Amino acid sequence: MGLLLDGKKIANEIQSEVAQRVGELINNNKRVPHLAIILIGEDGASHSYVNGKMKACKAVGFEYTLLQFATTITEKKLFKHIEQLNQDDDIDGFIVQLPLPKHISVEHIIPLIDSKKDVDGFTNHNFGSIVSDQPLLLPATPFGVMELLKRYQVTTKGKHCVIVGASRIVGAPMSLMMVEQAQATVTICHKFTQDLAKHTRNADILIVAVGKPGLITADMVKSGVVIIDVGTTRIPDATKKSGFRLSGDVDFEKVAPLSSFITPVPGGVGPLTIASLLLNTLKAYERHHD
Ligand code: GUN
Repeated sequence: MGLLLDGKKIANEIQSEVAQRVGELINNNKRVPHLAIILIGEDGASHSYVNGKMKACKAVGFEYTLLQFATTITEKKLFKHIEQLNQDDDIDGFIVQLPLPKHISVEHIIPLIDSKKDVDGFTNHNFGSIVSDQPLLLPATPFGVMELLKRYQVTTKGKHCVIVGASRIVGAPMSLMMVEQAQATVTICHKFTQDLAKHTRNADILIVAVGKPGLITADMVKSGVVIIDVGTTRIPDATKKSGFRLSGDVDFEKVAPLSSFITPVPGGVGPLTIASLLLNTLKAYERHHD
């Protein structure tokens, strides 16, 4: 059985570090970092993520503001709110929680966000900075995975990292970070990849971000693999108070015994996305004051 990569524990460590920094700001009579969150519609998972983000802000002493809108909000109105947040000197960073309603295009929204306030690391400017020697605000989930690997001292240099899923939020930036920062050799697989197992069996480090429970089975990995499971799918479960449980993309029961390190779901990568958001907000605040 592989060693569990405890994302909750690492996220708590990061939260304590951020809280300490906020304590120093307060002692020096400085204002504290301020994060704004735009949340549109009634998606249950989005509400739950946003609640987690606000709870984390509160825990570290950040100010936070929730701007909540009905699904019917027009793109034009949303543009206006984004412009206001860009201009507002009191706001250090903000995020637009995804997914958006169908009539609002992510491609239209993201470029409007001032990259200095883009604490999700979604804009082209921040995305591109992954491959510069001065990384700016890095995409939150891959940044969290890097922190997890670093703090558990997982060897990455020269290793073969296979990433399943090429999304703009996770897979694509993850691949660049694994090359640039972790110095790994990277293969990216996606929905058109033929014979997925042929690739995953070669992985020393396997990072999966697809959203298909059970996609990675025991016959698809080699012994000693490091597994990072970014999948979080809600499965209806009447025995749970919430009515659902979270499932990753990896068949944990069967794959864990073969691995050297593995993230659980929940409690693996999820908490680190929020911890990264806090680090990025602090970074945006500090740049704002430079
Ligand atoms: N939806 C799912 N993950 C994320 C994330 O990291 N940021 C935002 N803004 N929306 C998301």
